[in-house]
Amino acid sequence: MIDIQKFEITELPFGERRTNNKPNTELYAYLGEEGIRKIVNHHYDLLVESEINGIFPPKGELLDGAKKRSADFFIQRLGGPEYYKITRGNPMLANRHLPFKITPKARMVWLECYRIVLSKLENVPEDLVLDYWRWLDEFSNWMVNQHDKPKFKLNISINK
Ligand code: HEM
Repeated sequence: MIDIQKFEITELPFGERRTNNKPNTELYAYLGEEGIRKIVNHHYDLLVESEINGIFPPKGELLDGAKKRSADFFIQRLGGPEYYKITRGNPMLANRHLPFKITPKARMVWLECYRIVLSKLENVPEDLVLDYWRWLDEFSNWMVNQHDKPKFKLNISINK
């Protein structure tokens, strides 16, 4: 267990793509493929109960497919087998998220669900988990593709 307060969520400006520090792949030695699949399954189970559940597939086969694709990516990213590359090709994740409305608020919810899962990990060195978290915190901003509210409102009235 890790104190959840240690997983800080950074507010980042819309469109900011910080140079993406790569996660420390030593984490893979502790989690293994199965550990990563467990994390992703738990994360998605929280997402489909969250206020952004509308953009995720409902429970069942479609959700299982989404869990698999995501876990394949994280396994590869942490230095495990390249399942994602083989089945999906280049990640290009910002592009793959374009069909979904991802606002700064949605990123917050996504990260909040993720930190719940990570805070429950046991027998994994805390610094490795927090290093992984910092990568997620920054990289998640790459997926934000819409504002929560329009920045300004057009106030036009047409009088004939
Ligand atoms: C910022 C908040 C995020 C939201 C709201 C979000 C939402 C989504 C949604 C709706 C999907 C499609 C699910 C489906 O397959 O039906 C998806 C897919 C995926 N997401 Fe995210 N995502 C976020 C951040 C991230 C981050 C930070 C990563 C990686 C570090 C990531 C990795 C993936 C991957 C690998 C897929 C599968 C892509 C594929 O189909 O090949 N997502 N995400």
